[in-house]
Amino acid sequence: MRQRLIHLRNGGVSVVVDASIGVPVIVHWGRELESIDEESILATVYLPKQPGGVDVTAPIAIVPQHGEGCLARPGLAGHRPGGRHFAPRFGLQNFEASKSSLVVTSIDSIAELSLRFEISLREWGALSIKTKVTNNGESRYLLDTLSITLPIPQLAEELLTLSGRWADEFDMHRQGFNHGAWTSENRSGRTSHEHPPVVWAMQANANEWSGEVWGAHLAWSGNHVLLAEVLADGRKYLQLGELLTAGEICLEPSSSYSTPEVVAVYSSHGLTPASWKFHHNVRANLPNQTGPSRRKVVLNTWEAVYFDHDEKRLRKLAELAADLGVERFVLDDGWFSSRRNDRSGLGDWWVSNEVYPNGLKPLISHVQTLGMDFGIWVEPEMVSEDSQLFRSHPEWALVSPGYEPIRGRNQLVLNLTYEPAFEYLFLKLHELLSQNEIAFLKWDMNRPHVQATMASGAAATHEQTLALYKLIDRLRAEHPKVEIESCSSGGGRIDHEILRRTNRVWTSDCIDPIRRQKIQRGASLFIPNEVMGAHIGAEVSHTTGFSHPVGFRALSAVFYHLGLELDLGKCPTDELVSIREAISWFKNHRDILQSGDAVRFDCQSASNLSHGVYSKDRNEALVALVQLTEMIQGNGPQFLRLPGLNAQAKYQVSMFDSNFLPGDRIGEFSGSQLEKFGLSLPKLRPNSGVIFHLRCV
Ligand code: GLA
Repeated sequence: MRQRLIHLRNGGVSVVVDASIGVPVIVHWGRELESIDEESILATVYLPKQPGGVDVTAPIAIVPQHGEGCLARPGLAGHRPGGRHFAPRFGLQNFEASKSSLVVTSIDSIAELSLRFEISLREWGALSIKTKVTNNGESRYLLDTLSITLPIPQLAEELLTLSGRWADEFDMHRQGFNHGAWTSENRSGRTSHEHPPVVWAMQANANEWSGEVWGAHLAWSGNHVLLAEVLADGRKYLQLGELLTAGEICLEPSSSYSTPEVVAVYSSHGLTPASWKFHHNVRANLPNQTGPSRRKVVLNTWEAVYFDHDEKRLRKLAELAADLGVERFVLDDGWFSSRRNDRSGLGDWWVSNEVYPNGLKPLISHVQTLGMDFGIWVEPEMVSEDSQLFRSHPEWALVSPGYEPIRGRNQLVLNLTYEPAFEYLFLKLHELLSQNEIAFLKWDMNRPHVQATMASGAAATHEQTLALYKLIDRLRAEHPKVEIESCSSGGGRIDHEILRRTNRVWTSDCIDPIRRQKIQRGASLFIPNEVMGAHIGAEVSHTTGFSHPVGFRALSAVFYHLGLELDLGKCPTDELVSIREAISWFKNHRDILQSGDAVRFDCQSASNLSHGVYSKDRNEALVALVQLTEMIQGNGPQFLRLPGLNAQAKYQVSMFDSNFLPGDRIGEFSGSQLEKFGLSLPKLRPNSGVIFHLRCV
């Protein structure tokens, strides 16, 4: 008899799939199981007939099917002419399983559609699922949705979700998950600030280090929809997929549509250990990695000079930066064609004669003589109406013919699905990289899609997203050593798919350290610290107007991919001294900071927070305590418990203050003592922090 349940085991997680029926059903995703008792597992998933319902209670399959009576939102929706075949019912065609992966094909010979599921459990315990639908019929099939559904045990009684906005990304929200539905729909044409594609289901009261948690991420940089629903019979599920506009995907005979990948993680020990699996997933797929110490300290010119490019001033800035220990100088917006402000020049990707009469080479070689490499800003997907490109090719804009286009930051999107536009961009970027020694591209994307329309008249976001990937991939193939940063007005395009082809993300346009603490904490739920660009900005934050001491600004950046973004020429000497200290501290600890496991601790009070990094072998740890606001008077001593170290090991604990100067040794504690009792916390002023350094003795 054919085995009914397939047990995938990897990275301390088990996924059990019923591949014996029409569409595969995940019957267990969670704790690692030694063996499986088919009967008892199946009893938890296949419910008896519900009073008042149809005769069979259909399971919540990876693609739930209305056609078999499932009341969850259908995973596949679409139709043929006349509205036919809107509710297919698939039968199993074939499956192939190994220890950690499973490929299933299902077919509906009436609707003439087939589905192919690729399910694998990576060695780091992340579950990856992709699905493809193929039109086997002779007529067109208009696809509305193909999404991926993950059943969640009923004991998950809370949801943790993320939201945000420009300069204020990755807000965390917890809410009950006991009835009804939560949904998040992104129509911005990019991953978005507003709806990061991540959702967590959690056991009630689960936190950073305890409780069962299930997290799911849609690795996609276009539109998406997430859903978490509790059915009336109590069953729960998460569903993630691309949000398709009506008519956007029309499957001609023999053609297919593939979903983005869903990456899903589980831990029985809370959010921090579960996040490591997401982090591992990013690390395993990042391009051109040759070791963490390759991540160079950056100076970005944006908040230092904005559009005021003056070569003399920039040379001076580079000298000051190099003197502080900066390793990469990134020339931001304003270097090309007529781009003296944000109303002009996008699309004309050649060096401005006006500001760089001798080209970029003299500045680049100055930067290199100072011992740094050179990076540059581009925003390839955009065009300004005031540009030579637009004047020659107004038809290349991604607009809806006949309508007045909606502008964003005075610019339009270019239609990358139109081959001449794609080839033009490839050529211009290729020339830029071939003619200049450029080590790093900051690839920006500063406005959402509105009425984005392809030449055919259909919505373009799906194809545009694939074309963007193709453009980056082609450029990478020609220039494999160039590192790329994904920026979209800050953190508008951060996901695991863009991170397969970019090395860093610009986490937010806000570098106010207080707000950054929150933003980086939220982002660390699904991306590792070292990919998050984090810069030390000016004393008065350009986005919030608040002032912060330099030590605190630095403390809020050193745990990530460190950079500077301020006019060093205006910094008082003592501030430069502190920045130099911070850079040198970062370099001394770069290996552990960028290859260790990021840890977050549950907040002791609303006034502070703590996070850090443990080395993989747990022989060393760096833990930051950050005082956000005034401590509430009358509080007794506070302790920070540090779970997850080596229980038997003895750690010597010392402390760095906000100026990165080593302070007193605090003492020696066992890992188990640190977990059970914790470290006694110093009283700190708002806008300050300390870093505990733990080393095994
Ligand atoms: C966006 C980016 C900024 C900067 C500007 C330049 O807003 O997020 O970091 O590069 O564009 O125009």
